[in-house]
Amino acid sequence: MNVLVIGGAGYIGSHCVRQLIEAGHRPVVLDNLVYGHKGALLPSVKFYKGNLEDKKLVGEILDNEKIDIVMHFAAFINVGESVTNPIKYYYNNLSGVITLIEAMLEHGVKKFVFSSTCATYGMPQKLPLTEDHPQLPINPYGQTKLDVENFLKACARAYGLSFVALRYFNASGAAEDGSIGEDHKPETHIIPLTIFAAMGKRPSISVFGTDYNTPDGTCLRDYVHVDDLCRAHISAFSKLETPGSGNFYNLGTGKPNSVREIISGVEEVTGLKVPVEYGPRREGDPDALYADSSKALKELDWKIKFMDVRGIIETAWRWHKNNPDGFAE
Ligand SMILES: NC(=O)c1ccc[n+]([C@@H]2O[C@H](COP(=O)([O-])OP(=O)(O)OC[C@H]3O[C@@H](n4cnc5c(N)ncnc54)[C@H](O)[C@@H]3O)[C@@H](O)[C@H]2O)c1
Repeated sequence: MNVLVIGGAGYIGSHCVRQLIEAGHRPVVLDNLVYGHKGALLPSVKFYKGNLEDKKLVGEILDNEKIDIVMHFAAFINVGESVTNPIKYYYNNLSGVITLIEAMLEHGVKKFVFSSTCATYGMPQKLPLTEDHPQLPINPYGQTKLDVENFLKACARAYGLSFVALRYFNASGAAEDGSIGEDHKPETHIIPLTIFAAMGKRPSISVFGTDYNTPDGTCLRDYVHVDDLCRAHISAFSKLETPGSGNFYNLGTGKPNSVREIISGVEEVTGLKVPVEYGPRREGDPDALYADSSKALKELDWKIKFMDVRGIIETAWRWHKNNPDGFAE
């Protein structure tokens, strides 16, 4: 398949590009490089620098590259920033997708894979989270993702678009060969931040709250390896064959780890001490968030390779140790 990967120079998108090649597909990347890195892509990958809301450019790519499927990773992802600057998030994460789908329909491309998130659920009423859990997001980031999910449902009904929305839990880790990895600027994710504290790239890692209702008092989250996520995307292509269909899948291991476990895991894997600073709880952080991914495991025949967070941390460490400043720009 010819697959347009929008946001393919970003963290998850760039791993997906490699997995697509491995699976025998031909990825074409569109990314504006606002947050992505050209260095995350093999030189052989066809790359367009541009905005997904540029309908003319998207139309040309769809026609010239004979695109069969569009994958969308190109959202802004900083939850805190979405609270302080919602206009930025609604424009890029929602309005951008509306323009993109319009361009796809005008050019006869009707298969779409969307990166959604467990943030669409909001505060958990029941764990593990299943796909039918109420979706009540508590920040604009999660709300824009839910709005897109609902928009896609309407487009499936009205125009015969077929789509899969994958609700990721905490994407983490790096390519097993250490060739690419996570390089968000600013970084907000706990595994890279803890590794940076171990390496002395930052003074410490902050632990927000030690009085949660969990075995060690720190929050439990579901860490899923980035390559496991990407393999699920490719398996999901089989679900795009029926025009007008929409499918939703959770992608997590279902086996959560606490903040303290991440810190001790990083210390064991790196052999370095992690300086820790303890602070008060943050607003909106539930005790635990983890997935029931049985639907994806069954319907997508998804196999999770990295069930243990230690293995995830090992891949992340390999990347950060050899690339302490991330990708060369
Ligand atoms: N990282 C996670 O743990 C996580 C969890 C749940 C869901 N997600 C979703 O996965 C997707 C990818 O996340 P990521 O961590 O790889 O983010 P990322 O910031 O590394 O990658 C996003 C890429 O999209 C590009 N981009 C953004 N807006 C664009 C636009 N308008 N036009 C063209 N390119 C644009 C950026 O330059 C960047 O390369 C996002 O949609 C995010 O919401 C991520």
